[in-house]
Parts: sequence; C-alpha cells; structure tokens
Amino acid sequence: MGIVAVGHDRDWLEVRFEDGTTQRYLGTWLRDNITTGRHRDAGQRTFDINSLPEMTIAGASLHADTVTVTFAPEGLDATFDAAWFCLHRSTSGTGRGVTPRPTLWGDEQQGSLEFADHPTLVCDPARLHDWLTGIRDLGFGLLENLPATPGSILEAVDLFGYVRETNYGRIFEVRDEPEPANLAFTRLEIGMHTDNPYRDPVPGLQILHCLVNESDGGDSRLADGFAVAERIRSDHPEAFQLLTTHPVWFRYLDGGSADLQAYKPLIQLDSRGQVTCVRYNSRSAQAFDMPADVMAGYYRAYRILGDLLHDPGARIEFRLEAGQLMAFDNQRVLHGRTAYTAGARHLQGCYVDKDSLHSRIRVLEAAR
Ligand SMILES: [Fe+2]
Repeated sequence: MGIVAVGHDRDWLEVRFEDGTTQRYLGTWLRDNITTGRHRDAGQRTFDINSLPEMTIAGASLHADTVTVTFAPEGLDATFDAAWFCLHRSTSGTGRGVTPRPTLWGDEQQGSLEFADHPTLVCDPARLHDWLTGIRDLGFGLLENLPATPGSILEAVDLFGYVRETNYGRIFEVRDEPEPANLAFTRLEIGMHTDNPYRDPVPGLQILHCLVNESDGGDSRLADGFAVAERIRSDHPEAFQLLTTHPVWFRYLDGGSADLQAYKPLIQLDSRGQVTCVRYNSRSAQAFDMPADVMAGYYRAYRILGDLLHDPGARIEFRLEAGQLMAFDNQRVLHGRTAYTAGARHLQGCYVDKDSLHSRIRVLEAAR
C-alpha cells in the first residue's frame, strides 16, 4: 500500500497511507531499525542501543513511496519504503515470531489418530510439513514404517531437529529391568506425567520409538495438558491462580552422578497469560514448601489438576507396534501407559528441542 503523506514532531513520525489510515512510528524505534544498521550479508544489527545518542526527528520527506527521515543530533538520513512501513503498521504485539495458538483436544481426538509413513515424509516436503505442524498445533504426532532397529529413532529426529543429550544419554531405553531405577523400567502402569521437570529447561519434545511389543498391555496414553490447564482456568480460577504462581521443587538424585533440581510452577504462563508449560510428575516432585496458609488450598488445586489429567475423557490411548513412533511436546502433553504382565516390550526414547521443530516448519513454508 502506498503512502500519501508524512509528518513529524521531535519524537514521532506520522505516516498516512492511501487507504486513509495513519500510523505513528517512534523516532528512536526508527533509528534503531535503519536498514543500513544491519550487516549486508548476515542481516544482523551492527550496533547496540547504548551506542546511540538520545535523538530527535529533525526532518521527514516523502518521495514516491520512500520516506527519508533525518535524525538529530547525528544528522543521519535514513530511508524507509512503504512496504516496510506496512509490514510494521502495528507495533503493539503483532505476534511475529510467536507460534500459533495450540489446538486443544480431549478424548475426541481418539477418532483422528493417524500414523504418518516415514519413507513418505523423507521425500515429500508437503507431507512432512503436515506432520510437523500437527506436532506443533496438537502437541503430538505418530509415525510408522521406521526400521524396528536400535538407533533408527534418529532417522525420525533427522526429519526436523537434533537430539538433546542428557545424563540419560543420547538415546534411553524403556523396558522392564531386573533392578529398575525408574518405574518406566518395570511392567507397572505409569500415571500421566511429563518427563524431567527437574531440568531447566524441561526437554521440549520427547520421541518414543517401539522396537518390540509382544506384551499383553503397555498401551500408550497421551493427554493435552494445555486443554486441562484452560479448563482449570475457566472452572477453578482459584486453583489456577495457585498452580500458576507457587513453584514446586523437583529433583532427580542419582548416586553421586547427578543432582538435578528445578523450582517451577506446575502451570507456567508467559507475559500475556498464555500457558507455556505444564509440569506434572509425582515421582520427582519434592515436599511442597508453600506457606502454611496456602498449603491446604494448593493441595485442593493439585488434586484438581491430577484428577483432570487422569480423566479418561482427557486422553487418547493407542498401542505402539514395532516400527511405530510417537513424538510429543513434553512441555504440554502428558504421557503414561497401561500395565502389562507378560511379553517383551522395548522402546527407545530421546529428547529434541522444540525450536528446531518450529524452524523446520518455517523453512519448509519458505521453500514452497
Ligand atoms: Fe516418561
């Protein structure tokens, strides 16, 4: 859209567009964003704000669709074109750089479960994009036709990201062991939980790849923690307030080799009040240390959260067969499994940072 007029005072540039609307741009913001202030190749800003003097707008003129702004006391002229002004018409929170709002779900999602075909995703960018945006928006994705061989989980990770290695190794094993260090390494039912709330940051994505499943149970369960959090926000506002403001101490202690700790709320919000992380893991939560006048209310809120996360209406349930894999947002989606009493069951797992998922989606979209 073209520009029909510009005006200014000491601090503000006013631009009138051909649709009759006007937008004001702060002079300091304009100076901070001059096009010549970025490296020609790297595109990165070449100065810091503290290197700039306090400035005013000394002049502004319009030539065709290009505005030249003169900054004092530098005497610097900088040009901005109409497309750039249009791109930044709203500087009050456009959400650029923010991922789309999640699609919340409950057990109705059971009817839409679909495993993507790994060989197809390897060679079809459009199908890969669909699978990755599903993980971004729903918080989980299912994949099949991977080799059921140790380490082939990395072929799925290669689709979009990089393993986040931890003290559990690059890849960890999930199977019953004679002397288990974790309930996951038994045949017991595992309640809904998020992994590793004692890490900071919490692992973003978890991938679990089934190598063997000859068990008589061991079905996988997922629940949308964001959907549960929003339900608590609307139905139990006092509980929501407590769960979002009082941190809980999580700890993993391993025989002198690891003492991982984090002190974070079970439901974490960003500066806009959006839920960004749900932590729930009764195995690693330490004794709560809220003030006495908060403790009773907090336990009521904690019970509400636990009840809703384990409500069958909040979850999906499916069986992973050999060669199948699930990827889920460990900061949002809770996982668990049913018990099994007989038969071999062996999964391999790893963690992947979430930013590489979002990056890969953007790169695929830019290449269209
Ligand atoms: Fe887990």
